[in-house]
Amino acid sequence: MRYNFNRLIDRKNTDSYKWDDTFSNFGKDGVIPLWVADMDFPCAAPILEAIRERMEHPILGYTMRTKGYVEAIIGWFKSRHAVDLKKEWISFSPPGVIYAINTMVHLMTKRGEKIVLQSPNYGPLFDVVKKNGRELSVNPMICTDEGYRIDFDDLEHRLKGTKMLILSSPNNPTGRVWGFEELSRIGEMCLSNGAFVISDEIYSDIVFSDYKHIPFYSVNKEFADNSMACYSTNKTFNLGGLQMGTVIIPNPIVKARYDEVMNIAQTRLDNLFGAIALEAAYTKGHDWLTQVIRYIEDNRKFVEDYLKRNIPAMKLINGEGTFLLWIDCRGLNLTQHEIEDFFIQKASVALTQGHEFGENGASFVRMNIACPRKILKQALNAIKQALQAIN
Ligand SMILES: Cc1ncc(COP(=O)(O)O)c(C=O)c1O
Repeated sequence: MRYNFNRLIDRKNTDSYKWDDTFSNFGKDGVIPLWVADMDFPCAAPILEAIRERMEHPILGYTMRTKGYVEAIIGWFKSRHAVDLKKEWISFSPPGVIYAINTMVHLMTKRGEKIVLQSPNYGPLFDVVKKNGRELSVNPMICTDEGYRIDFDDLEHRLKGTKMLILSSPNNPTGRVWGFEELSRIGEMCLSNGAFVISDEIYSDIVFSDYKHIPFYSVNKEFADNSMACYSTNKTFNLGGLQMGTVIIPNPIVKARYDEVMNIAQTRLDNLFGAIALEAAYTKGHDWLTQVIRYIEDNRKFVEDYLKRNIPAMKLINGEGTFLLWIDCRGLNLTQHEIEDFFIQKASVALTQGHEFGENGASFVRMNIACPRKILKQALNAIKQALQAIN
């Protein structure tokens, strides 16, 4: 089936966080929302069909995961990432990926112990460390003309005496897709320092044509035994409203501890529609995903060309995946406060401000491009006009 991602779908008044909650997040209504990582595209048809079919039955009580659930996960990882997942490695996190990471932080570290995170990085990951009373140690990445690079000397130094590294792979917000060499170096350093790795691979399915996502545990057995990886159909298939999470823990001792805590919290059942959607997505969603990635790549190219031609002071950083663009706004010569004010008050475009991704994100913005190209065009024109008005 051919999907039309150019189609404008009015999401206002659907309780959409992205569209209906801009006032509490930005202090302004009526802005073009290119912030939270949620797509404005129609859902994959097989997912909607599966949910509709189940809705024919009038009772929606406690429900087990569907019969084909685990097989669907195994099949997906085999075909998309060429890995043979073992059934006994698979765990769940019905409330989502951050809940799983939060649980693991409690299990594997104590208050006051050090956890390393790279930056820029997804803001809530910093909170999971800091708000749980762990010591946050930030490994700033290096911004180059080819995209972000890891500062391995700094990382090596930081990993000494560290209990854990939380890796964003692919990285949100920079769109870096880590290569085999990079993952190998990270994994070796963590092993030699006794640091457990949480690999947040929520964006692993959205990688551009010339790149390949490598699951951390697939690098070698030692890395597998020293790690957990997190996934979700929330990002790949835009099912954030259904809240799901899949967790891979190859080490049986660590996995038993994780499962025990999740069972105590009574998270053994999934959201009924979430479970149905996951099975439909992982068995029948390939076609939609292939098309959506192609559209996102074209959107990326569109923004890149537009910025080069019309707003060269905003520089797109090279990225290899995700539907998020990381844009360097230092060329605008505005303070952080002025940048925020400019995009919201002058241009009426809601972007995520770079400082939310760590200190070295200041003066950058993250733009979500998973929307019809017409919306992107409107937003870019609004930014261009607002810039002309202040210059
Ligand atoms: C890197 C990363 N991890 C986790 C999440 C959130 O996942 P969940 O909603 O399943 O907790 C996001 C959402 O944007 C993310 O970007």
